[in-house]
Amino acid sequence: MRKFLISGNWKMQLDRAESLELAALTMAKLKDNCPAEVVLMPTFVHLDAVGQLIRNSQLKLGAQNVYFEKKGAFTGEISPAMLDDIGVKYVLVGHSERRHIIGEEDELLNKKAIAVITEGLVAVLCVGETLDQRQSYRTVEIVGRQLDAGLAHVSSEAVDQGLLVVAYEPVWAIGTGHTATPQQAQEVHKYIRDKLVGRFGEPIASRVRIQYGGSVKKNNAGELLAQPDIDGLLVGGASLIADEFLGIIQAAAQVPSH
Ligand code: PGA
Repeated sequence: MRKFLISGNWKMQLDRAESLELAALTMAKLKDNCPAEVVLMPTFVHLDAVGQLIRNSQLKLGAQNVYFEKKGAFTGEISPAMLDDIGVKYVLVGHSERRHIIGEEDELLNKKAIAVITEGLVAVLCVGETLDQRQSYRTVEIVGRQLDAGLAHVSSEAVDQGLLVVAYEPVWAIGTGHTATPQQAQEVHKYIRDKLVGRFGEPIASRVRIQYGGSVKKNNAGELLAQPDIDGLLVGGASLIADEFLGIIQAAAQVPSH
């Protein structure tokens, strides 16, 4: 059984007070028998404060980015060990905004994924095609390449320990209000699952959680999670509104885990 994984990616939003307020509100309203694992991903400067606030709750802490080196003269960068030290459990690797705005490429992202996993944290490898790529029927080629490159040298043992999550986020769906239909998402999730089976074997691949991201709201969360290979949601805009984010988490309660 794959427990649903619902993550709130706060991106470069919210000041310190707003971050703490949103974390406190989410924590207070989350039921004891929460149907999902829930992760908050604040910006780096508020990670520690939010982490301290949620330390004894069911909420987990996630980071939006990382550098692959352990330590040293890398001005402005943050290592997996530093994230581990303040209680981070999940780390996004290759979010589309980092691929397309900052210019991060597959080889760098693979180093990041390996560094995160080596630290014993969960790497959330984000993949997804642009609108142009989808319209020219290149979705599978692009997602396949991002997966192959991102997962190079990642060991079956690490994946078996639960240190890998894949997030499928079509670029055209992020922040646009154009969510992929459940069928469109499931089709790519199934492709990702099959790639994982090829790479790590069926028993291990069947335990990897694959999140969907891109304009998820409380009113479309349930139908997405009902798809057999959608095991969670990576939520941007809607995670900044407590009522929306909690609605998304509650939607998971209505759907049996896969
Ligand atoms: P969105 O962002 O929910 O605002 O579309 C998702 C993401 O970028 O992780």
